[in-house]
Amino acid sequence: MERATRIKNLTLEEKASLCSGKDFWKTKEISRLGIASLTMSDGPYGIRKQTEEENYLDFHTAKKYICFPTAAGMAASFNRELWYLLGQTLAEECRAEGIDILLGPAMNIKRSPLGGRNFEYLSEDPLLSGTLAAEYVKGIQENGVSACVKHFAVNNQESRRMKQSSNVDERTLHEIYLSNFERVIREAKPDTVMCSYNQINHEYTAESRRLLTGLLREEWGFEGCVITDWGAVCDRVRGLFAGVDLEMPASGGETDREIINAVETGSCPEEVLDTTVNRILELEEKHRGKTKTVYSHEEHHRIAEKIAEECLVLLKNEDEALPLPESGMKIAWIGDMAENPRTKGGGSSHINSWNTVSPLDAAAEMGVRLRYAKGYAPEKTENTQALTEEALETAAWADCAVIFAGLPEQYESESYDRKDLKLPEEQNELIERIAAIQPRTVVVLMNGSPVEMPWKDRVSAILEAYLAGEGAGSAVAHTLFGRINPSGHLAETFPERLEDTPCYLDFPGDGDEVDYREGVFVGYRHYLSRRIPTVFPFGRGCSYTAFTYEIRGVSSRTFCEGEELLVETVVKNTGMRKGKAVLQLYVEPQAGAAFRQRPLRELRAFEKTELMPGEEKRILIRLDDRAFSSYDARQHRWYITPGEYSIQLGEDCETIVSQTAVFARPRAEKPMYIHRNTLLEDYLRSEETAEIIREELPRLLGYMGLNTSEEIPPFVYGLPLRAFRGFSDGKFTGEEERRLLERLEDAQKRKGGEVWKDRNCSERSI
Ligand code: BGC
Repeated sequence: MERATRIKNLTLEEKASLCSGKDFWKTKEISRLGIASLTMSDGPYGIRKQTEEENYLDFHTAKKYICFPTAAGMAASFNRELWYLLGQTLAEECRAEGIDILLGPAMNIKRSPLGGRNFEYLSEDPLLSGTLAAEYVKGIQENGVSACVKHFAVNNQESRRMKQSSNVDERTLHEIYLSNFERVIREAKPDTVMCSYNQINHEYTAESRRLLTGLLREEWGFEGCVITDWGAVCDRVRGLFAGVDLEMPASGGETDREIINAVETGSCPEEVLDTTVNRILELEEKHRGKTKTVYSHEEHHRIAEKIAEECLVLLKNEDEALPLPESGMKIAWIGDMAENPRTKGGGSSHINSWNTVSPLDAAAEMGVRLRYAKGYAPEKTENTQALTEEALETAAWADCAVIFAGLPEQYESESYDRKDLKLPEEQNELIERIAAIQPRTVVVLMNGSPVEMPWKDRVSAILEAYLAGEGAGSAVAHTLFGRINPSGHLAETFPERLEDTPCYLDFPGDGDEVDYREGVFVGYRHYLSRRIPTVFPFGRGCSYTAFTYEIRGVSSRTFCEGEELLVETVVKNTGMRKGKAVLQLYVEPQAGAAFRQRPLRELRAFEKTELMPGEEKRILIRLDDRAFSSYDARQHRWYITPGEYSIQLGEDCETIVSQTAVFARPRAEKPMYIHRNTLLEDYLRSEETAEIIREELPRLLGYMGLNTSEEIPPFVYGLPLRAFRGFSDGKFTGEEERRLLERLEDAQKRKGGEVWKDRNCSERSI
């Protein structure tokens, strides 16, 4: 039966019933019309499918599934194929389990390193976040399962997440907090989007028509269903108008009745409901006739290991402390996490792992002999002093000590944020004491978000393992002993101190109001632009081999909006081992183009590639409009400020190794304010108006008793046209001013440019 006919055949009650869940994980069916129930599950980095008997709020009871690395580490891979592979692998598991919609990717921007769910999110950079998440969505959906992009939008903290208002200006919204979502919607066409709990500028996202219809559907072309986060609905009917299709979980029919009532009393036209029903039925149709798959846990476990191997970031490796030899050296492994690794996040994304391999197990499997000491006790029930003494003794005996440290699971989870950036004090102390007696000390970190490293300069090497899933143990062991060459790069900055972070004074707000005062200066955009030193910058990642990077040329020295620019790069492996290089392409606006406050430089493209020792590869990297644009809130659109832009290859965001320049410009220049309040220096910025002003200037200056043969005093450029009347003692008359404005306006129009009529600088009141 055609969808339109099916909608016609539905009663009002049936239509409304489709708009909310049947229980925690399912949509409602309507058997008489063959409409089936759909099943959802968390997500995002492994399945958390609960049985009907299990309590939703008990995140630990779910069945066992393969646990993959969380997004923090996954993003550090900078590897698109890996994200696709993760999506594809999860889709196979979903199909085996009868899951139609997987609730991921979770992709909010990391505004503060304290964000409780940062382990589950990708990056502080929207390009990296959007590009990788898009591959995950494709991997899931091209294999028969729907993805659910969440949490849309500006849900950057857990504190009071169901109430707080993220107060953000229009430019920052578009450049930072929405553009990653926009990329995923446009590139990967997800079937569903989950709107978030919070408010944006005092409007709940579940009620924001501008967000869910204006932007998401009309501007970005989203055609799927909007699902609410669990319990995010306030006013169901307002939500329906805004574009919310499915309320989750179940309201016991209460909110369905509110919809029925609104239609019956005429406050909601039935067509609004039909539009939503149409989208829900379209989603249901996509999942018809699907066959169940079977998958091998062993095989997926191996995939989890393979993925984990690319998520580890070697932050520091002095005097080639790593890799370690597999034999012939006395090696001490210290720290409870070597035995009980932290591999996953908490809250709704908690996965009951199928087979977690510890680093100790993995080393044993490799046949490596080492001495282990627990070092610290997670439960604090054991004799701490005895553990420390044993650890120090073991470290003193060894030629190299590897300390496993990290954040316990309760430190970072859904529904609350971290209070500071510290590791547990006993771990910091242990590292300091071991580093004092053992010159070759290596630290392996297992945490979902950045930590302070007061001991950084006193240890030889640091390997950031993030929360690398059930394959963490073997990935870490294989990396420490050099079977794997690390290739992860930080997708976020590791700051020196909490006080240095961009929103230190505004996170998590005063409870209800969270003002995003740092604007677009989030993550590395903040540290670079304000020249604030960091412990490890965005993009940092060492390797056991060495690479050189070079920009050989660009397809054109000028770029006009709508075109594409090809950047020819060359990367060479100059070391002795096979390894994967990440090419990070940044764009830095130069003087003219940086007229508006812009971040010093921004990541605009990236590529990852594997090279054998001595191998060289030529890689073409494409740049489009967005590489040069910023969002202009006055025009409500992206805009390329005409000027010179430096295109740079960086080993990380601070270390630029090769660069070239192009001149970029918009297709149509920004409309101009032709107004008596417009400053002379602004008129001089556009060729057409500048010509007229230059012609008129001697007369204007003459009125003021100034001589044009002498140098023009700088204050003159800061005068609005109207000021010439006062400064000329009325010689420059109102009539002259009007005529001059007309000439300026004509000139601007003749050139095909637009004139801004509706605003001037005195428009806003206090
Ligand atoms: C979380 C979502 C999750 C949902 C279902 C919510 O609390 O914010 O990310 O998908 O619960 O468990």
